[in-house]
Formats: sequence, C-alpha cells, structure tokens
Amino acid sequence: MSRKLLEVKSVVKIFHIGGRFLGTKLKAVNNVSFDIDSEKPEILTFAGETGSGKTTLARMILGLEQPTSGEITYKGKNVSHIQKREELLEYMKEVQPIFQNPFETFNPLRKVDSYLFETAGNYNLAKTKGEKAKLVEEALKSVGLTLNEVQGRYPNELSGGQLQRTSVARALITRPSLLIADEPVSMVDASLRMSIVNLFSDLKEEYNVTVLYITHDLATAYYISDRIAIMLRGDVVEFGNIDKVMLSPLHPYTQILLKSVPQPDPEGTWKEDIKLSSLEVKEFSRLGCKFYERCPSAMKICEEVEPLSVFRDGREVKCHLYSEEFKKEEETLPGSF
Ligand SMILES: Nc1ncnc2c1ncn2[C@@H]1O[C@H](COP(=O)(O)OP(=O)(O)O)[C@@H](O)[C@H]1O
Ligand SMILES: [Mg+2]
Repeated sequence: MSRKLLEVKSVVKIFHIGGRFLGTKLKAVNNVSFDIDSEKPEILTFAGETGSGKTTLARMILGLEQPTSGEITYKGKNVSHIQKREELLEYMKEVQPIFQNPFETFNPLRKVDSYLFETAGNYNLAKTKGEKAKLVEEALKSVGLTLNEVQGRYPNELSGGQLQRTSVARALITRPSLLIADEPVSMVDASLRMSIVNLFSDLKEEYNVTVLYITHDLATAYYISDRIAIMLRGDVVEFGNIDKVMLSPLHPYTQILLKSVPQPDPEGTWKEDIKLSSLEVKEFSRLGCKFYERCPSAMKICEEVEPLSVFRDGREVKCHLYSEEFKKEEETLPGSF
C-alpha cells in the first residue's frame, strides 16, 4: 500500500492550437511533479496568473483530461488507467471537485438540495430517504448551513457564498480524501472569501481532507496553505513550504508577485484579465526561461536554456540564478548579485 495519496510525475500537457499539423503546440503544463502524503492532510496551493496551466493540471488530476506524457497516480494507481466502473466510482468518490462559479455548477431550474440528495443516493452511500437526509444534514452542518436554509430553494434564492458552501457540502457527502478546488472563491463576494477558504482549513483539521487549492489570490493562499506552487506558463517555478516561499521568495517572478500583494485584500494581487497575448504565446513557446522577457535578473543563459528545478533553502526553484553553473560563476565574481 502506497503511503502517497497523489503522485504527479513529470506531467506534460500539450494542446494543439489551430490544427494538429499546421498549428502551434502550446505546452500548458510543463513537466510538473509533486506528491501528496496520505498520512498528512494539507492545503496545497497552486497559484499563478490566468493561463499558467492551473485548470489544466486540475482537470488531469480529476481524470477529465489525459496527460500528453508523465503519470498521475492516486494511492498507487494510474488515474489514466482507471476503466472499470467500480474503480471510477471509487475514484470520483475520493477525489471531489469544487468549481469556480457556483451559479454554473447548479442548474438554475433545479432546487439545490436535489444535488445533495442525488450525490447521497449515488455511490451507494445511503438507501433510505432518512439515511440520505442524515448525510446531507451532516455535510451542510460542516459548512455552516442547515437543511432548512437550502431545502426547496433554487440557486438564485441563495447568495453566492451560500451557494459555494452548498457546493462544498455536496463534495463532502462522499467523505473524500482530496478536494480539488479550482478558484473556488473568485466569483464570491470579497467579504465572504475568507470565511469560505477558512472552511478548507477546518475540513483539513476535522475530516483529514487534503485540499488542492487553485487560486490567483496570494492573500487567501497565505492564510490557509501549508505548501504553495507558483506557476508560470505551465512551469512550476517555485514550490515549497508556504512561509519559505512567501516570506523569502527566491524566484524573481515570485518576488515580483509578492511585492504587489498588500495585506489581506482579496481584490489585490493578480490581474485576472490577462488574455492570451502575443507575449503569452511567446513565453509559452520560448526555449529558455518563460520569465526571460520580464525578469530583472535575466542573463544570457536564460534566453535559450530552460532552467532545471533545484532545491535551495527548503524549497524547489526553477531559475538559473540558483543553478550550479551560476553558483560557480558567482564564486569567481563576488558581489555580482
Ligand atoms: N482545451 C484547450 N485547448 C487549447 N488550449 C487550451 C485548452 N485548455 C487550456 N488551454 C490553454 O492552456 C493554457 C493554460 O490554461 P489553463 O490551464 O486554463 O490556465 P489557468 O487555469 O491557470 O488560467 C492557456 O494558454 C489556455 O489558453
Ligand atoms: Mg483556470
């Protein structure tokens, strides 16, 4: 029995834009690797600008998208190889998604509690109506709601915050080990965001649930995360303990991002409206470091050679400033940076 809950090994996802033969290849996820321990529940954040590959990574973990190369295993089993209905059901039970926009998750013409009862009925969790109601009540209670508050209501009769809590409750009915929450609070009122992300911390403590929290908001990430991965154009450029990365960032990209993060202002931080600009396409397709054009410390090597991820000061960092070659150079040129 593997002690790893999830292992993501050298995962790559390439999209073909504008046709497989004549179009361009876009590496939306580039060689991403990490593990989640099964004994130690945590909140692991993936943070990065729009278009950095976060959703693509989440979709691969959920089995909704196949990696172009690399492997994702859950409790030692390759997620891409799950075929039997029972195994798929078991996986869907243990790894639950929470999506960005609760108003899209719920059909406006369907009462929200019907989703909860349906989930309780699927997966053979409960047979009688009473058993189902008990599961639903428990799940709602763990997100600070009661059945009374949601029963018989349509999505538009609940606030965005209540609705997102309901979608977390729905995910909890199956008693999952892993929640994949893709920008779960970006559509929720700023004033309610902390209460929802704090919920993830409570769930971790009380139910041993690990949460993969995807966000472009570093302020909420800092409050709840144990570890953080900073993504840039498909690369994980820095990865490690939340305090290490956020209080003493090493990658120039992380350093720049953090300079723009003020206090717990959930509106601040990242610009969400970055579209696939010509810069983005260029950054995705460049040979060297994806941050080359924007990096204040860029060197010749960064233009052409992709940096390797190295372990420095308690975290992984993918930057030539910390590679062995540069260290040697630095020793001969004291005080050069
Ligand atoms: N199905 C797809 N086909 C082609 N390109 C895609 C597809 N899904 C995502 N992409 C591209 O991959 C990149 C990463 O996207 P995504 O994973 O959605 O990033 P994020 O969630 O960080 O905003 C983007 O440039 C996006 O345009
Ligand atoms: Mg996304």
